[in-house]
Amino acid sequence: MEAALEPPRLEHQQPVLRAMGLQKSYGRVTALAQVSLALYPGEVLGVVGESGSGKSTLLRLLNLQEPPDGGDYRLEVPGYAGQNLFALDRYQARQVRVRHIGIVYQNPHQGLRMQHTASGNVAERLILAGERRFGWLRRAAREALQASEFPLERLDEAPLRLSGGMQQRVQLAKALALQPTLLLLDEPTTGLDVSVQALVLDTLKRLQRERGISMLIVSHDLGVIRTLADRVLVMRAGRVVEQGLTDQVLEDPQHPYTQQLVHAKL
Ligand SMILES: Nc1ncnc2c1ncn2[C@@H]1O[C@H](COP(=O)(O)OP(=O)(O)O)[C@@H](O)[C@H]1O
Ligand SMILES: [Mg+2]
Repeated sequence: MEAALEPPRLEHQQPVLRAMGLQKSYGRVTALAQVSLALYPGEVLGVVGESGSGKSTLLRLLNLQEPPDGGDYRLEVPGYAGQNLFALDRYQARQVRVRHIGIVYQNPHQGLRMQHTASGNVAERLILAGERRFGWLRRAAREALQASEFPLERLDEAPLRLSGGMQQRVQLAKALALQPTLLLLDEPTTGLDVSVQALVLDTLKRLQRERGISMLIVSHDLGVIRTLADRVLVMRAGRVVEQGLTDQVLEDPQHPYTQQLVHAKL
């Protein structure tokens, strides 16, 4: 007998994230023009597009790191559900960012204090969230690093002395230490050796499967997107030009720009 089809979950669930009409310019450069997207619980949404298409800007806005010029952003998190997060004051925005959003940058210098220890980097995130008990901090940091498959004998080493793959695992541990509702990944494996990249992707896949984390992953590498993303959104010059199920978009791209991207990578 054939396996039953999966229920069309997207139609039955409320999105965990909804962004409408995001707008951002830098001087005369329009980095984002009316970008809207939704992310469903436990879903991985891939974002692809050539360099300069606005992918990192999108993640910075969703991480409440930088204010938009316009738009509405909602996240289903305790205390803030149904509110436009762009309207929060700095203190509240920081609360949401620290408690409910994790981010991994391509460049570990952006996400980590390179001279502190690996466990200190993770503990810092817990301290920012108000935790003060030393024993607990140490244990929680250790657990988060273990979940990210970071070698525990290296807990006290500084990221500066670690390999690129290990640095990304520290970023991942820091991002996930507080069990965020949303995980943002900006080219998390770009620049790593292919074999290291595969290991980090395995860890991400496992964590996603086990914890049902909702993720938004930016990558110019369609192999990464194919491996991780349920749906994909194609950006060009600050706009979403195509979106759909990953297989569908990558196998049968409709927009000429997506066709170009897909064929360039074959
Ligand atoms: N802080 C900034 N100051 C000025 N221009 C910026 C800044 N951040 C991004 N941009 C510009 O916005 C556009 C989108 O950039 P970005 O979001 O980094 O694209 P991507 O991540 O897709 O490569 C680019 O033209 C970039 O030069
Ligand atoms: Mg970028």
